[in-house]
Amino acid sequence: MIDKIYCAEIKPEMERQRIKLAGWVYRKREIKDKVFIVLRDSSGIIQIVFKEELSKEAYGKARKVGIESSIIAEGVVKPDPRAPGGVEIQGDRIEVISNVEFFPITKDASEEFLLDVRHLHLRSPKVAAIMKVKATLMQAAREWLLQDGWYEVFPPIFLTAAVEGGSTLFKLKYFDKTAYLSQSAQLYLEAAIFGLEKVWSLTPSFRAEKSRTRRHLTEFWHLELEAAWMDLWDIMKVEEELVSYMVQRTLELRRKEVETFRKDLTTLKNAEPPFPRISYDEAIDILQSKGVQIEWGEDMGADEERVLTQEFDRPFFVYGYPKHIKAFYMKIDPEDERKALAADMLAPEGYGEIIGGSQREDSYEKLVQRIIEEGMDPKDYEWYLDLRKYGSVPHSGFGLGVERLVAWVLKLDHIKWATLFPRTPARLYP
Ligand code: 4AD
Repeated sequence: MIDKIYCAEIKPEMERQRIKLAGWVYRKREIKDKVFIVLRDSSGIIQIVFKEELSKEAYGKARKVGIESSIIAEGVVKPDPRAPGGVEIQGDRIEVISNVEFFPITKDASEEFLLDVRHLHLRSPKVAAIMKVKATLMQAAREWLLQDGWYEVFPPIFLTAAVEGGSTLFKLKYFDKTAYLSQSAQLYLEAAIFGLEKVWSLTPSFRAEKSRTRRHLTEFWHLELEAAWMDLWDIMKVEEELVSYMVQRTLELRRKEVETFRKDLTTLKNAEPPFPRISYDEAIDILQSKGVQIEWGEDMGADEERVLTQEFDRPFFVYGYPKHIKAFYMKIDPEDERKALAADMLAPEGYGEIIGGSQREDSYEKLVQRIIEEGMDPKDYEWYLDLRKYGSVPHSGFGLGVERLVAWVLKLDHIKWATLFPRTPARLYP
């Protein structure tokens, strides 16, 4: 380890202090007998000035160093109101660890090119800010889950049957058998509640979605919770408390990063329980009154959800969807057999669904019937059906798409910017 300090730790009060920095050359310009290097590390940037009169050797090396070279630099702190952050370093030593002649990413790079060289793009302060916000959202989730008594579990990714419909399954050869990549850990979390009652997991989920939208990836990070003894209304309370804590804590810890992406924090600050709740029937009425062509019984896509989000200045729930547009495992509403006890959480500002959740069917007979109705084979779900035979309980759960949450929090124009290496139908590399 190098005994260095981070750029963001340097303050004007440290005047005349000698410090060592390590990082990458972010910007460079030369004026007469001075070289200005803006150094970047994981914390931020700082300007280092190398003057010929101070050290000929350091000045000479600084002149030659290229953008994105890795360096270790030493110097003295000098407050300067003209420098970014009100402070700069008078550099007198520079060690070039790895010099770069030419860095492929330039100012006018297209989005496609940035994705082609995503492995290099990740070092941009903007991308780093997104990843910090994502890490903080998940840190907050863990804090909340811990203090609310949820157990983390680690479900499998190789599965033998669909959770969210056969059409988006990724199929693969598993020795002499067929396996699928997990679309959701849900069924396995349901098995875990019999020993642990309140469980959660964070796993990659895979969906072979051909649709090219701003909110679909083929691989995304899925935060899923499942709890025994909770009905739909209980789990909706968990959802709003969790999401509210994640957002408020992130505003507390990462406000600077959030503000570089969105000036208006209103909808984030508004994300406090209780979130508004509207029924699917009300949602259809709102859409029809706004001239959207949709009939009762039809699913809402991104376009419909976008229109609906204009009615809200905070996340909100839509509950009571028709059962035939929802998954087989959802419990049918005993008061209206046409509907499932399902609720989605939608983010405002056009973002739409960030959570899908429901109460689960706990009756063996009804679950078998739903599996058959959906054209699936109960044999494929034998172990899952066992859960309804041996001490079945009312239970509920949900899944939150982590990248979707990040995209809304930072108002990103596409979910792909919320993940390190996006996977879409058109992109598998790098
Ligand atoms: O609504 P979904 O399909 O629900 C489930 O998978 C449940 N089994 C989860 C559960 O109850 N444990 O997906 C849940 C969430 C969506 O609301 C969305 O945020 C995200 O996962 N999601 C995607 N995110 C990015 N790309 C995709 N292709 C996504 N599909 C779903």
